[in-house]
Amino acid sequence: VRLAADGWAVESLDQTRLPGAQVPLRLTTWREAAEAIASMRVRGAPLIGATAAYGLALAARADPSDASLEEAARGLAATRPTAVNLAWALDRVLGVVLPESAPDRARSAYREAEAICAEDVAANRAIGEHGLALFSGLAAGADRPVQILTHCNAGRLATVGWGTATAPIYLAHARGLGVHVWVSETRPRNQGALTAWELARAGVPHTVVADSACGHLLLGGRVDCCLVGTDRTTAAGDVANKIGTLLKALAAREANVPFWVAAPSSSIDWSIRGGDAIPIEERDGSEVRRALGLPAEVPVANPAFDVTPARLVSGLITERGVAEASAAGLADLFPDHFRGDA
Ligand code: MRU
Repeated sequence: VRLAADGWAVESLDQTRLPGAQVPLRLTTWREAAEAIASMRVRGAPLIGATAAYGLALAARADPSDASLEEAARGLAATRPTAVNLAWALDRVLGVVLPESAPDRARSAYREAEAICAEDVAANRAIGEHGLALFSGLAAGADRPVQILTHCNAGRLATVGWGTATAPIYLAHARGLGVHVWVSETRPRNQGALTAWELARAGVPHTVVADSACGHLLLGGRVDCCLVGTDRTTAAGDVANKIGTLLKALAAREANVPFWVAAPSSSIDWSIRGGDAIPIEERDGSEVRRALGLPAEVPVANPAFDVTPARLVSGLITERGVAEASAAGLADLFPDHFRGDA
């Protein structure tokens, strides 16, 4: 997501059209930004946050009154419940803009949205370095490229920079450390196809597999580590991510394979400890029916995320380093964010 050349509209790619077609997306109102998030034209926790921040800037440009900004913030917040980056970005922009006088608000909102984007790029880069160190440990003495299993898309398309889970992969590839990525398809929205599209463009060796193939790969010794993103990680290290993540973590534990989560601090919810407090988005059953060619009367449940308990997570790769997935581990790396009362 970025500012258009006119300096006020917001540009992105319509991800519902990928990988078949690269269709640009131009957002000119907060309602268009909200529609883009709800329909998953833009998706992935950090990109959702950045788009919502620009949505507030668009609202401030149109009408900088308190009532207008609060309506836009409510509308944007209601689009998708699980990724904490959304509420985090909206709170951040409102916190900067509301104390300003009306004529200054739009400029401040755009500046804050740009800062959120710049920080995301920096966080991606740092996560890349910390993740690369973990890959290097796996590569030492190995006779094959490091075999990484990922799920969903926590890549360039989901962030402003190089992705969270993909940043160490791109860095490893650029620095000549051999990697091969197992990409699970990620039903029902097929975000694995987005990851495969990205990796192919970057020339990173990869293989797409059906979601249900991952246990077989893990227990068959064909995976050296799992690396996924997160939509919301609690202050005690429980991880909400795309539905299907939990099954991979369970299989990884059984196979004694490390299960790492790339978790920028913008995706950590410091206000809760237990993963059961994370709101799990229930999406329309039509997404599943369409994927399977089922008629409308077939009952379908479509939870979009699941929660992997901290005990199954080998480490949280943050922009400040790799934290143990626990309250103590996160408090150690983020004493400025950690709240003893959460
Ligand atoms: O429903 P989506 O496609 O927005 O879900 C995306 C994920 O689950 C990603 O893994 C997560 O947002 C991290 S993106 C860096």
